[in-house]
Amino acid sequence: MKKTWNWAKGFGFALTVMIVFALPLRAQIERNSLAQTPPMGWNSWNKFACNVSEDLIKSVADAIATNGMKDAGYQYVVIDDCWQVSRDENGFIVADVQRFPSGIKALADYVHAKGLKFGIYSDAGTKTCAGRPGSMGHEYQDALQYARWGVDYLKYDWCNTGKRSAEEAYSTMSDALLATGRPIVFSMCEWGTAKPWLWANGVGNLWRTTGEIRDTWSSKKKGPGGSGWQLGFTDILDLQVGLETFAGPGHWNDPDMMEVGNGGMTIPEYRAHFSFWALLAAPLISGNDVRSMAPEIEEILNNAEVIAINQDKLGREGHRVAKSGDLEAWAKVLSDGSRAVILFNRGTTESDVRVAWEQIGYPKTVPARVRDLLAHQDVGSFTGSYSAKVGAHSVVMVKVTP
Ligand code: GLA
Repeated sequence: MKKTWNWAKGFGFALTVMIVFALPLRAQIERNSLAQTPPMGWNSWNKFACNVSEDLIKSVADAIATNGMKDAGYQYVVIDDCWQVSRDENGFIVADVQRFPSGIKALADYVHAKGLKFGIYSDAGTKTCAGRPGSMGHEYQDALQYARWGVDYLKYDWCNTGKRSAEEAYSTMSDALLATGRPIVFSMCEWGTAKPWLWANGVGNLWRTTGEIRDTWSSKKKGPGGSGWQLGFTDILDLQVGLETFAGPGHWNDPDMMEVGNGGMTIPEYRAHFSFWALLAAPLISGNDVRSMAPEIEEILNNAEVIAINQDKLGREGHRVAKSGDLEAWAKVLSDGSRAVILFNRGTTESDVRVAWEQIGYPKTVPARVRDLLAHQDVGSFTGSYSAKVGAHSVVMVKVTP
């Protein structure tokens, strides 16, 4: 008997083939569609290191919800290392019951009830950097547990990973998070060793570009046991040069969490640190004790005009456009065609710092309005260039609008 083509079966087969091949492609392109602007929040490590507890996290969430930070855009409250102690008989991760007696789920619920999001920390190796159990070999199980707890953000470190490939390790956890179906921002903390900016768009939402930040203007030293670099603010800044083309909505370069307010730098230095993190479209993850901030620190962290530059929806990272000795100009293209500009003085005496329109992509004949984003003042209309007196170790940050 002559076989006739069964249209229904044929159509079904074709549809199946299309779905099977199109799904991974779609997932690859869209991934989790989170962090369309740089994530903002707070992380325990820079100030509290291993001294974390549910009381600390709750009081920090209380503070962020009431001190203006939540209104300014800070959202993720992230516990870093040391919340975990062991695995149970089924391999599930176990939190420290002394420090988190109510459990992680209750803590996540508390943070959510404040209108904030909740983040947690793990490591791609056998152990975290502080020697707690890592996620290697437990990626899907850990991701599942985080999703059950209501985790919204995972910082994933790189200690004790042996010869593991960073691309494989981070892709495995990225897939595991995606498989839970819960939207979880994925923060890769690989310190830039394997150049994640070259391959991690579609794997993580942010990736560390350097070693560890220290609460100081400048210093380069090896970490404990010779592990990784510990860098001052300006050392980290210098390492961002040339990485700007790799950042964009959903995938950001991360020059590490902020030290603003931790006591090792002056107020002008902290203002420079914050202004640069904003201009670099860096994640704005505060790392100080936000429960008791000096007014000057609160003003730096909650500066709405500077935060608006960071959160600009075009998602372009700023970059250096001029350098002459200790004096520099940096610029970030904004979605309305204007530019955010930082005039930077690394030196120890006040100096005039100038930016020329041609350095920021405007013809020199164009008049443009200049607004000082730190003084909250319009400073006038200028044609061809703008210059300002900039104090020692300071910035002037302006918006230039033709
Ligand atoms: C590494 C990371 C830090 C912090 C610690 C925790 O050093 O770079 O940001 O997470 O581990 O142990």
